[in-house]
Amino acid sequence: MSSMDAAASVDLADLGLDEGGHLLVDRALDGLAPGRRLAVTGRHPALGVHLGPWCRSRGHRLIAGDAALVVEKGGSAERRWAGAERAGSAAGPPDARADPRWGLAARGALVEAGGPPIGAHWSEREHVWADIAPKLYAAAAAAQWDPATAVDWTAPIDAVPPEIERAVIQIMTYLVENEQAALIIPARLLSQLHPHYREVMQLLATQAADEARHVEVFTRRGLLSGRPLGTSSAGGRASLATLLNEPDFSTASFLLSVLGEGTFLDLLRFLYGHAPDPVTADVTRLALRDEARHVAFGVAHTAHLAGSDPAYLGTLRRSVERRHAALQDTAGLNAEVFDSLVLLAAGSWQPTAIRRGWQAVRDLQARMDEGRRRRLAAIGFPDDEAAELSALHTRNFM
Ligand SMILES: [Fe+2]
Ligand SMILES: [Fe+2]
Repeated sequence: MSSMDAAASVDLADLGLDEGGHLLVDRALDGLAPGRRLAVTGRHPALGVHLGPWCRSRGHRLIAGDAALVVEKGGSAERRWAGAERAGSAAGPPDARADPRWGLAARGALVEAGGPPIGAHWSEREHVWADIAPKLYAAAAAAQWDPATAVDWTAPIDAVPPEIERAVIQIMTYLVENEQAALIIPARLLSQLHPHYREVMQLLATQAADEARHVEVFTRRGLLSGRPLGTSSAGGRASLATLLNEPDFSTASFLLSVLGEGTFLDLLRFLYGHAPDPVTADVTRLALRDEARHVAFGVAHTAHLAGSDPAYLGTLRRSVERRHAALQDTAGLNAEVFDSLVLLAAGSWQPTAIRRGWQAVRDLQARMDEGRRRRLAAIGFPDDEAAELSALHTRNFM
């Protein structure tokens, strides 16, 4: 046998197989069909010793030639990738169904058969997707702010009258509890989402990070004057528990983001407008900006789903009714939170000021209702049903 029988050749010069030489051999074999031969030449003293075991480990056959070493290509590499398939398309939109066998592979990767399937619960595009998700993720990534520097924590709060400060602390205490629920829900949905829907996964991660910052800045504002935090009511926590217990991705997104966070947009705007100090103004303004994205995804996703399956509006409707029935015997909003909102808008204990504050909170509730009806209509509910469902929303706002 002579090296002339080989279909191709490669020269490793003085490079050893134990220092990267196998890359050159692999590259040369790549263009050959199984059964074809490659002549390997080189000056490394151990080349002949190393090539035999390497060939066996890769399923090739080493044939001792007279002038050169000859490798006959095996078929195991081809066999290994025979059952492989692409995990959807990297450039195109995600697939309608994500195969659990794709597991953690990048979208568009060539996936070797075998390997553990991923135990994701949400693996259908319609159940998690919105076309705006990639854009919202990019906006969220660009808008991350640093709580240490985005808020001027040294701004004076001494001018805030003690009873107004107590109202601010009560509201902050309430906000933290709601933000914690708003953090846990996207984090839980994220852990059950097939990573094929990468942009939704990334968006939920930024949403959880947003809520982590909200928990931080509201806690910090609540503690700023050194007084103890306010109260947490059983009714408020019962209302949030019904959100945490919602198992369906889209229904959870609807109840939390469309109705709850949608209502919070008006609440945060109200708090910003009546902030008695710059720190309260900063933290509510920053949270408001983030919440607008959370609401945008919730509305876009549920509208997308209802658009492809009109019967889904019935499912969403029943989720609101179910939640309302579950909370019927609870107080909903902590009365101390309501009173604190009145006092904050009043700014003082003068009866005329209290009347003004009371009216401001009634106006706030009317704006919240209007916003909910508008978002419900955007999803596809007729106006009368939107009004009915908005009225059934929890008194706890979130
Ligand atoms: Fe938040
Ligand atoms: Fe949020």
